[in-house]
Amino acid sequence: MRRAPLLPSPAVPLPGSSLHKVCKFLVLFCVIHLSVTLVYYLSGGERNIFQYFTENQQIQNRDLANSTPSTVQIANTSKELLDCPEDPPFLVGPLRVEFSISVDLEEVRRTNPSVREGGRYTPEDCKALQKVALIIPFRNRDEHLKYWLYYLHPILQRQQLDYGVYVINQDGESTFNRAKLLNIGYMEALKEYDYNCFVFSDVDLIPMDDRNIYKCFSQPRHLSVSMDKFGFGLPYNQYFGGVSALSKNQFERINGFPNDYWGWGGEDDDIYNRIVSRGMSISRPDAITGKCRMIRHNRDTKNEPNPKRFDLIGKTRLTMNSDGLNSLTYKVIKTEKYPLYTKITVDVGPSPS
Ligand code: BGC
Repeated sequence: MRRAPLLPSPAVPLPGSSLHKVCKFLVLFCVIHLSVTLVYYLSGGERNIFQYFTENQQIQNRDLANSTPSTVQIANTSKELLDCPEDPPFLVGPLRVEFSISVDLEEVRRTNPSVREGGRYTPEDCKALQKVALIIPFRNRDEHLKYWLYYLHPILQRQQLDYGVYVINQDGESTFNRAKLLNIGYMEALKEYDYNCFVFSDVDLIPMDDRNIYKCFSQPRHLSVSMDKFGFGLPYNQYFGGVSALSKNQFERINGFPNDYWGWGGEDDDIYNRIVSRGMSISRPDAITGKCRMIRHNRDTKNEPNPKRFDLIGKTRLTMNSDGLNSLTYKVIKTEKYPLYTKITVDVGPSPS
């Protein structure tokens, strides 16, 4: 009788064998693990990346108000505040910034309940390391200002700054004078509070990372170092436009900013020259942290390129001692306190013909 040929046995462990028991245990373990993960995910314990980006801009304030991480320092029951930490614990890093959404300022006010009238904020759980006045030169850009307030208020609170927002609005029809408006913002903010740091920001520039802290450093700080408009880099090494921060002492050392740049361009290069000529250097965040977006727009009327700018930039060292804070003249027309900012309308005087 011929025997049937032996077939190779299939790779399935025999029931009852120890290998079979191990396999059963592993399958059971995987099923339990998957079920727990699924339940956790569906109950919202895990955020997907899209939710994370969306939420981290506006809802953070509520998180911030309700939580007390160990890094927040509360000294004792008498509530004497300790200094806020050097690295603010609520920062979230990269932010999604877009300008297709419509912004309702009433909603921004509602979602930033800790911001006081005039756009003032002071951390409740720790003593801010710096008192920062944010100065925005302005004329007819209400739509841009809405985005600025919507994005910046939550960021500045997460950065644990004691801050105030000042929109310096140029009255009348004379040619725009950005640097003079910044000087005026400095003077007016100081009348209100003893700020020790001044952040000068264009109204159309929004940071894309909240680790780019809007505060002052041991050297004058350039914050908008990686703008989408310039392909996320500097247009040239000496560029100091967009958003910058100077301490009170740094600002005074350079006699403030020039008052004589009417129209677009050059004033930021003059400020750079002032800083360098006083022996200071520029501090900057890295190109990732310093990413920011600019709201696209047409050039404003009465802000045409200043034909005198090249000539003026060449003479900064000669002019800076007599043109600046010590020669500043202006008239305040109106001061308005809004829930999210203080608007100061000023007459900067006539532009030269
Ligand atoms: C102007 C600056 C301007 C820069 C970038 C320069 O030519 O003088 O004021 O910020 O270009 O646009």
